[in-house]
Amino acid sequence: MTPTDDFIRALPKAELHMHIEGSFEPDLMFEIAGRNDVEFPFESVEEVRAAYEFENLQSFLDIYYQGMNVLRHERDFYDLTYAYLERAHADGVVHTEIFFDPQGHTERGVAFETVLDGIWRALRDGEREFGVSSSLIMCFLRHHSEVDAFRTLDQALEHRDRIAGVGLDSSEVGHPPAKFERVFRKAREAGFAAVAHAGEEGPPAYVREALDLLQVTRIDHGNRAMEAPDLIARLAEEQIPLTVCPLSNLKLCVVDDLRNHPLKRMLKAGIVATINSDDPAYFGGYVLDNFRAVRDALALSAQDIVTLARNSITASLADEDWKARRIGEIEALLP
Ligand code: HPA
Ligand code: ZN
Repeated sequence: MTPTDDFIRALPKAELHMHIEGSFEPDLMFEIAGRNDVEFPFESVEEVRAAYEFENLQSFLDIYYQGMNVLRHERDFYDLTYAYLERAHADGVVHTEIFFDPQGHTERGVAFETVLDGIWRALRDGEREFGVSSSLIMCFLRHHSEVDAFRTLDQALEHRDRIAGVGLDSSEVGHPPAKFERVFRKAREAGFAAVAHAGEEGPPAYVREALDLLQVTRIDHGNRAMEAPDLIARLAEEQIPLTVCPLSNLKLCVVDDLRNHPLKRMLKAGIVATINSDDPAYFGGYVLDNFRAVRDALALSAQDIVTLARNSITASLADEDWKARRIGEIEALLP
């Protein structure tokens, strides 16, 4: 039987790959642009949405950086984060590990603390009001220099108590993980968890570098690892999770059709694949929309859906007791 939306919603799920700046919905963008008196190159919400047709990662990133330009004050980051938590909660997300891109803001003159304080305050309110727990993962923009990444890491070190991990995002091809080997070493030595986008557009070699040089414990996307039998075997053997983002892959032409998405092959190979929304305001949906899309395109069974929910809990940075409790809740929901 096809798993229903209600069944998927009821399963406790963690979201492990979601850029908070990518949850910026056009109506909130207009509201904040207005109150900050920022010039905005679109006339209406419809016009913004019409611009969300992408050919590849870069064509999306150009619009993504333009959108975040209206975020200026602590309250803006609060509103953005709070709105995401409300949506995630409605989809049955019980824990979220949120990426943020401080360099996308500090390079515009917005202080690191303004960004962090706003996100953090919303996370605390969201936890109290919706029961959604969270961790923050700070991403380095890989199109910027190593020096710039080190500077950003130094800022994060001043807020070690509020940032759980570091990641790597933005334009992948031409900016291999090796560029950030020393930055990641310093971050790991300071106790940060390490993850990285790899194999979204970049070749399988980038996934190997993320594992060997950055020593990440999770790969974000990882689609192109499926081109390399050695990597498929290694990801399964070492139980290195992939944070898969189906609607993102479709919108950014990483796959031509969701029916050709490698998710099912990942699960068959024994890889800890998880379902995530990446940039939900830009790619057509939140976690539940992503589950629904792959359920329909790949004819996923209830067992596949349960495996994906369980994987999201297992792959999270949360502690083992919490994971065991959540997995117990998932098992209690099985027929
Ligand atoms: N890939 C790389 N960088 C990003 C993405 C993505 O999917 N979303 C936001 N920054
Ligand atoms: Zn991403």
